[in-house]
Amino acid sequence: MVDAEIRSLGGFVGQRVRIRGWLFNKRSSGKLQFLILRDGTGYLQAVVFKPQVSEQVWEDAERLGQESSLWVVGSVREDKRAPGGVELTVEDLGIYQLCVDYPITPKEHGVAFLLDHRHLWLRSRRQHAILRVRNELCFAIRDFFYKRGYVLIDSPILTPAACEGTSTLFETDYFGEKAYLSQSGQLYLEPAAAAFGKVYCFGPTFRAEKSKTRRHLMEFWMVEPEVAWMRFAELLELAEEFVAELVARVLDRCQEEFKRLERDTSKLEPATQRPYPRLDYADAIAKLQAKGFAVQFGDDFGGDEETALADESGRPVMITRYPAHIKAFYMEPDPQDPSRALAVDVIAPEGYGEIIGGSERISSYELLEQRIREHNLPREAFQWYLDIRRYGAFPHSGFGMGIERVVAWLCGLDHVRETIPYPRMLNRLYP
Ligand code: 4AD
Ligand code: MG
Repeated sequence: MVDAEIRSLGGFVGQRVRIRGWLFNKRSSGKLQFLILRDGTGYLQAVVFKPQVSEQVWEDAERLGQESSLWVVGSVREDKRAPGGVELTVEDLGIYQLCVDYPITPKEHGVAFLLDHRHLWLRSRRQHAILRVRNELCFAIRDFFYKRGYVLIDSPILTPAACEGTSTLFETDYFGEKAYLSQSGQLYLEPAAAAFGKVYCFGPTFRAEKSKTRRHLMEFWMVEPEVAWMRFAELLELAEEFVAELVARVLDRCQEEFKRLERDTSKLEPATQRPYPRLDYADAIAKLQAKGFAVQFGDDFGGDEETALADESGRPVMITRYPAHIKAFYMEPDPQDPSRALAVDVIAPEGYGEIIGGSERISSYELLEQRIREHNLPREAFQWYLDIRRYGAFPHSGFGMGIERVVAWLCGLDHVRETIPYPRMLNRLYP
């Protein structure tokens, strides 16, 4: 007798196995009890037939409540109708813990209740599907960079200064000094690009934005490549290649999850096709004005504008060359019009908004110093960052992609809160 995982039971037909898991659901009819078990890898129907088991096993099976933890021993039988193609005929059964009054029942619950019980909600089929898509996306990201020779450089979480703007920093005490939770690993990656050429970081990022939108989290995971010698045109290609490959991989490997989520995957197919449409910022403004938005050249885009700018083709759209003054201090000016920055935002289709923000970086020491001054940033805190322009300055570019927004888009969710195991939101730090 061997221990087996439900997902690989197809290879155990005719054999005796032990499965350890939790009771997902059960029903009975006369001398039969059908236990639906889950073990994290799948779902299995385990059939208890009264004449074939001891009285104790029969009674234990009867006592099991939803989410009781147990083991069953039995033989694996082929059953074409069952999920996974197999069933288990139970011979023996033991209870680890008898669970009573499991809070999340098969009936409908409100989102606030479910978020309060996030530690248990993770067990549900839908959450399972979403977090498996996230898992696949994360590995696809790492493979993308690994195959292309990028080096993973983990950037610090505790930092002495801001990167994306001082108003959205979480402050903490660092032995009597002020420290901040990182908003982006970018500033730390640029020196690493000078050391390794092609690098990326992938880790948690913190924004103390008091926004309550369906696209904002206080803590989210961002993946950020940074590439030496890369100019803006190549950066656009990298972003496009990246998104297209990730979507294709997840489409290929997560069919079961998408089915569970009732996601219409034909809506994702166009995003596997390059090139993506590109839209100059000035044309984006014109497009919005034509749609009746009261925007003017120089305005930044909010969620509604992003939704309106999404391409009808179903491919992400790349908006380029934003006015420099609405973007971060480190962005290289457009040589054709220095009032614009060589910046790009990638807007996902179907109203999912900005998934990528990136730019070519300023490589001149003097210009970067000037921008730090103009943005009223503390010069001393940025000396090390300026050093990169002092000791072998080089053209380079990079971008950041927040993975929760991508998971929400892939899964077709109306909010990012389900795309991360423990969401941190304006009014939520529990559990
Ligand atoms: O556009 P952002 O702020 O860019 C940066 O941080 C750059 N330093 C990245 C770089 O060039 N290396 O953020 C990048 C992406 C956004 O496009 C979005 O996908 C995600 O991070 N993001 C958020 N996701 C969830 N909740 C939030 N509050 C987010 N803020 C940004
Ligand atoms: Mg942005």
